[in-house]
Amino acid sequence: MALRLGDIAPDFTAETTEGTFRFHEWLGDGWGILFSHPADYTPVCTTELGATAKLRSEFARRNVKVAAVSVDPLADHHGWIKDINETQGTTVNFPIIADPSRTVATLYDMIHPNADDKATVRSVFVIGPDKKIKLTLTYPASTGRNFLELLRVIDSLQLTSKYRVATPADWKDGEDCIITPAVKDPEAETLFPKGIRRVKPYLRYTPQPNR
Ligand code: BEZ
Repeated sequence: MALRLGDIAPDFTAETTEGTFRFHEWLGDGWGILFSHPADYTPVCTTELGATAKLRSEFARRNVKVAAVSVDPLADHHGWIKDINETQGTTVNFPIIADPSRTVATLYDMIHPNADDKATVRSVFVIGPDKKIKLTLTYPASTGRNFLELLRVIDSLQLTSKYRVATPADWKDGEDCIITPAVKDPEAETLFPKGIRRVKPYLRYTPQPNR
């Protein structure tokens, strides 16, 4: 069965470009992103892994470790990294898992046979410090992902895990948040001393509490 939000992210041992790791142990107490790409030495994937490498400091600032995976072997990953570094003007600085046995791809349901029976689709799993899945995304091979969107979602996930707020459509870090409906008005006054803007009884905004 496909993995759902709130499920524990399956643990596994894998060979990666940075050595063999046990996934949960490698994640430690922080946040994680596991994302798959269809194949090495392909153009869209090359740009995606380059984009991820360039955002290293942004992921680190949020205490997020990133690991990529494809069903290609380790030797291909190492050769391809040289191309990524050369063409994308960066240094790949995160592990790429070699999954020729499809262990990880199967555990995370990353092969969608009606799209492609061999290659992984572009899956993304955001994993919280509790090892639970907080976000899933699935993109087709033809569409590269937006890695700034992943940072935006992580900002929202980290904020909403600490405060009783949710984030509205197209929210970005620093913008007003929505007070969750479970918080009643009298409690909201105490919890959100920066102020409350009531548009409707169920639609109440407050400045981002941790800013
Ligand atoms: C790519 O990364 O460019 C790609 C991979 C598989 C199918 C189509 C495009």
